[in-house]
Amino acid sequence: MNPIYEVKAPSNIALIKYWGKSDSTQQWPANSSVSMTLKHAYTQTKVSKIDLATDQIIYNGEDLAKDCDFVKKINVHLALLRKWTNQTPTSLRVETFNSFPSDCGIASSASGMAALTISATAALTDAKSFAELHSKGFSKEALAHYARLGSGSACRSLYGGFVTWQRGPSPQSQSVRQLFSENHWHLCNAIVLVSSTQKKVSSRDAHAYAWSSPLFKPRLSYLSERMSHLTSALEHRDFELLGTLAEQDALEMHSIIMTANPALNYLTSQTIELICWLREERAKGNLFAYFTIDAGPNMHILCEPANKNKVAELIASRFPNTPIIWDEIGSGPELIVHNKEES
Ligand code: PMV
Repeated sequence: MNPIYEVKAPSNIALIKYWGKSDSTQQWPANSSVSMTLKHAYTQTKVSKIDLATDQIIYNGEDLAKDCDFVKKINVHLALLRKWTNQTPTSLRVETFNSFPSDCGIASSASGMAALTISATAALTDAKSFAELHSKGFSKEALAHYARLGSGSACRSLYGGFVTWQRGPSPQSQSVRQLFSENHWHLCNAIVLVSSTQKKVSSRDAHAYAWSSPLFKPRLSYLSERMSHLTSALEHRDFELLGTLAEQDALEMHSIIMTANPALNYLTSQTIELICWLREERAKGNLFAYFTIDAGPNMHILCEPANKNKVAELIASRFPNTPIIWDEIGSGPELIVHNKEES
């Protein structure tokens, strides 16, 4: 029995969004971004070498057909990793599972591509830990680079805490690094599940439309200032400033999405209702919480641990039928190697 390389890679929620690309082949973002790594929303991927002519892809317990889009996406990424590790003929069994609903704006592509990149690279190179991967020439930074080629936001899931993906002056000089560890500031994140239906247009496609919005270039002109304010908010644990900037940035991204050509709507009427409700409650002094929203209808409410119960109570009384997934800041991906299949 070949060893099984198991990775649990977290999702991340962007506080300053990556939206739009300057070069899609090299996944060079139009702007730098900052995210918070989550703890409970993760992808678990197990990879092992198999003696078959083709790869086997199992998603949430289902052996998927070779021609479905999900398998095709994984195959493209595995081909890239095989070339990188110089292990072209090796076939792999990839078993992957998400702890949360996929493709609805909770960044399943981020956790998924991070987990696949680490587990497949470890399996292909027989590396049993991040230290061993590093010593064989596959550092976290290099893994982040390959994860990014699968899904831009995946590169930030390689690290815990607050993470920045810096655009840099050229595609080759972009970089990813941790700004502050998860121990610096414990923040909570309530994912209000407005809808778990798969979105009709993927963020991969929607990125390409960003340039057609008249709001996109103005955004790029002042983002570096927002980045430095956000970094200062993180450094001083200034929750009001962090929340204000996160809301501004999320609404700005959605304004761009809604004014691009073609114009898309990821927000639903319930998302708008939630936005208005949260702002009213905050103005009344009932709730010290702010929101952000990725490319989907689901709202991420950010709060400090002391306010968690109050947030839960108020959401439950106003939106009793809307599920909430509670999450919090997390420490980044884990790699475990099993020498025998476990029952
Ligand atoms: O990584 P992609 O290509 O799925 O883009 C996702 C971008 C957002 O999640 C909307 C924002 C971000 O920075 O994560």
